[in-house]
Amino acid sequence: QDRKVAVFVGSLRKASLSRKTALALAKLAPAHLTLDIVEIGDLPLYNEDRDKDAPPAQWTRFRDQVRTADAFLFVTPEYNRSVPGALKNAIDVGSRPYGKGALTKKPGGVVSVSPGALGGFGAHHHLRQSLVFLDIPVMQQPEAYVSGAGDLFDETGEIQKEGTRDFLRTFIHAYADWVEKLAA
Ligand code: FNR
Repeated sequence: QDRKVAVFVGSLRKASLSRKTALALAKLAPAHLTLDIVEIGDLPLYNEDRDKDAPPAQWTRFRDQVRTADAFLFVTPEYNRSVPGALKNAIDVGSRPYGKGALTKKPGGVVSVSPGALGGFGAHHHLRQSLVFLDIPVMQQPEAYVSGAGDLFDETGEIQKEGTRDFLRTFIHAYADWVEKLAA
């Protein structure tokens, strides 16, 4: 069955390695799984006061997109050993109003990306901590820590390292199985 995945990319820059990883995963995914990036860069910082009467249009657009997805996939860099603020803000916006948040109870996956050697391990697990509270069941295995991402892509965004391409294919197929398992 066709499944729509809302992909959250934790970096806002054009040449983002995380965004390239997300686009590569979209290509490696099985045909029934559609990965669409949900833009988070225009979301005003979460402020509970603004949710009372007239939430910003950007929040509403974002929440509607999140609501129509069958599953969530987070592809993020690590900022100062944690989740980038833009992604944390998107999670906060998606989680509210309390009890009515759009970002909940659908199968999840986490991929962290870094040009460094640790593969964004700190961001990866801080992110999982928030997803526990949001009741998003995150696939446990395989874990995806993409290290050395600085020379992973060619100019067209193709993955140049065969081992990493194979791993990401395995990952996204396992994630597709995870989505099906929880949908059943
Ligand atoms: C970084 N970077 C970084 N890398 C890392 O592995 N661990 C870290 O804690 C940090 N901290 C950090 C903080 C800030 C504010 C910036 C801007 C960057 C480097 C980071 O991994 C690198 O810039 C990536 O290329 C960012 O991901 P995108 O934008 O390529 O997806």
